[in-house]
Amino acid sequence: MNKTLLLLALALAQPALAETPAQFVASYSAEAGAGFKADAARGQAFAARNWGVSEKLSSCTVCHTDNTANPGRHAVTGKTIQPLSPAVNPERFSDPAKVEKWFKRNCKEVVGRACTPAEKADFIQFVVGGK
Ligand code: HEC
Repeated sequence: MNKTLLLLALALAQPALAETPAQFVASYSAEAGAGFKADAARGQAFAARNWGVSEKLSSCTVCHTDNTANPGRHAVTGKTIQPLSPAVNPERFSDPAKVEKWFKRNCKEVVGRACTPAEKADFIQFVVGGK
């Protein structure tokens, strides 16, 4: 591998440098371990699952809805949340700091712990409408 390719490979493996939804999926998948493949159906089940941790914030979909192309609604404050789908909201999954901040906050509230890299990769794969 030449130096440019090596640097590219390192950049792709670093969540902190990801910029596109596909790069986020790739870097979280790499973090999840060899042989892991992100799965949209698993991501959808994860998003809809009632974790039983918080009564009001039982699942990701209570705020983000079942359809990631639709605007959501904050289950507590009632505030509108812009759609998660990057197809309709190009700002999504472009800023690593923002993505990590919200995974951290939302996973803690809904799942009761940090989400694993595998869960994050599956979730984004679902949100981008992948397979
Ligand atoms: C209490 C309501 C609520 C719940 C429940 C919720 N979210 Fe969110 N989520 C938000 C808000 C508010 C934002 C930030 C505002 C915005 O970006 O529109 C956000 C933003 C995000 C982002 C940032 C995406 C980006 O690039 O802009 C991700 C990723 C995310 N949520 C994932 C999840 C996951 C995974 C779950 C379930 C474990 C979840 N959310 C549950 C309210 C919620």
